[in-house]
Amino acid sequence: MADKILKEIKVKVWRQQGPKAKGKFETYTVKNISTGSSFLEMLDILNDQLIIEGKDPIAFDHDCREGICGTCSLYVNGRPHGPDEDVTTCQLHMRKFKDGETIVVEPYRSKAFPVVKDLVVERNAFDQILQAGGYVSVNTGGIPDGNAIPISTDEAESAMDAASCIGCGACVAACKNASAMLFVSAKVSHLARLPQGKVEAKRRVKAMVAKMDELGFGNCTNTGACEAECPKGISITNIAKMNREFLAAKIRD
Ligand code: SF4
Ligand code: FES
Repeated sequence: MADKILKEIKVKVWRQQGPKAKGKFETYTVKNISTGSSFLEMLDILNDQLIIEGKDPIAFDHDCREGICGTCSLYVNGRPHGPDEDVTTCQLHMRKFKDGETIVVEPYRSKAFPVVKDLVVERNAFDQILQAGGYVSVNTGGIPDGNAIPISTDEAESAMDAASCIGCGACVAACKNASAMLFVSAKVSHLARLPQGKVEAKRRVKAMVAKMDELGFGNCTNTGACEAECPKGISITNIAKMNREFLAAKIRD
């Protein structure tokens, strides 16, 4: 499809000077944006405009711009990562918006992800959960050793599907309880399905769930909002798998 030009759009953005400052929406006009531009490129153009006008540019997180790193997490028109399906904000394109439209951009809102500035939130809570157990610390040998252990295709594919979680936090932002269960379950079940991860599976699930609870994430009430908004299609069947792993680990205490 050939790109078109959006002659004028309004961007209503959450501005907040710092973690304790009072935030508010401000609306800006951006002209002549190609529908082939990414959403972040549109924000870059808006920021260039603000800098030329002597104003503070909008702070937003981004890194790879390829849907890999999970840092470009924004609420766009009321949805984490915006109106497109199965894409991160960096892969959202302006063709998803109409000429003359007002686009509302907010940071993720969750007690566990406090606002740092404007659209940037602190997601260190995810790092802390990973540090609690999202790794394999036993000696797993070299690559030939790994390849010598037979794993069923179903288990390998389920593990790889869970491993595609990029830690973006959209699941937390989408959940009315700000639950991190989809993220944690993806990490737990990815490793629990593989022989190298099974050795520490019980310690891992208990430590990661305990850290998740300690950091103030809410409980899962099975609404499915996390799965619906996950840009990587992580399934809530991982939550069921994590619950089974957790129960089995606690029974053996
Ligand atoms: S489960 Fe999905 S929404 Fe949640 S952090 Fe992982 S990739 Fe993002
Ligand atoms: S910037 Fe890395 S996933 Fe969007």
